[in-house]
Amino acid sequence: MRLVFLGAPGVGKGTQAERIAARFRHPKISTGDILREAVRNQTSLGLEAKACMDQGKLVPDAVVVGIVKEKLAEPSCAGGFLLDGFPRTVKQAEELAVVLKTQGQRLDQVVNFTVSREEVVRRLSGRRSCPKCGAVFHVDSAPPKQAGICDRCGAGLVQRNDDRKETVEARLSVYEEQTAPLIAYYRQRDALSEVDGSGSIDEVHARLLDLLAARGLA
Ligand code: AP5
Repeated sequence: MRLVFLGAPGVGKGTQAERIAARFRHPKISTGDILREAVRNQTSLGLEAKACMDQGKLVPDAVVVGIVKEKLAEPSCAGGFLLDGFPRTVKQAEELAVVLKTQGQRLDQVVNFTVSREEVVRRLSGRRSCPKCGAVFHVDSAPPKQAGICDRCGAGLVQRNDDRKETVEARLSVYEEQTAPLIAYYRQRDALSEVDGSGSIDEVHARLLDLLAARGLA
């Protein structure tokens, strides 16, 4: 199973990617998670990425393509993988196609999640993340057992810097300008499926599993 999860910031692709990766034991490659870890560890990659991320802008294509190329070359990805938040531009999609071709692979499906703009803003404003283990919660729809504390590792939960209102607006504009064109790009290549991302996390997950089954992937 070689999948890409596409969609606006906050649509819920990371939440579904986590579940699919666990269920099918495929590595999940989330460029956002990799970049946030680099920022936390203050590596040179993190220092380069931080300014872009804090402003809601995309990190340069060459940087993220380099990260994904390295990950895809790992033996754990030979049997399948799930890309979450990559590609994000047509240039990244073209580079990904080249990388996969040289490995004799191709994408099985690009899944585009959709929800209303109001719901995206609601999901982002209520998201709380664990700075230690990366677990993701929502104050209303996926609350931790104890308010403000990570269920998985007990660390204090935080709001992501880029989930502040002004940055969310910038991220949504960047999505419309640079990422939404990928919908047409993959539709033209007959690789795109749509999943309605509204409703509960379980409802979306059930729709996703139905889709993968219908495509003969699950
Ligand atoms: P990234 O981390 O990829 O951010 P994003 O795409 O904006 O996606 P999010 O993580 O915000 O949302 P999501 O769709 O995963 O939603 P989630 O499941 O968490 O990227 C961050 C930054 O890194 C970018 O802005 C850019 O600077 C850089 N970057 C990353 N990749 C890049 C690339 N390829 N190229 C260049 N730059 C790149 O859910 C959101 C909330 O809603 C959570 O609280 C969750 O609990 C809740 N929720 C989920 N599903 C539901 C549901 N069905 N009902 C109710 N609540 C739900």
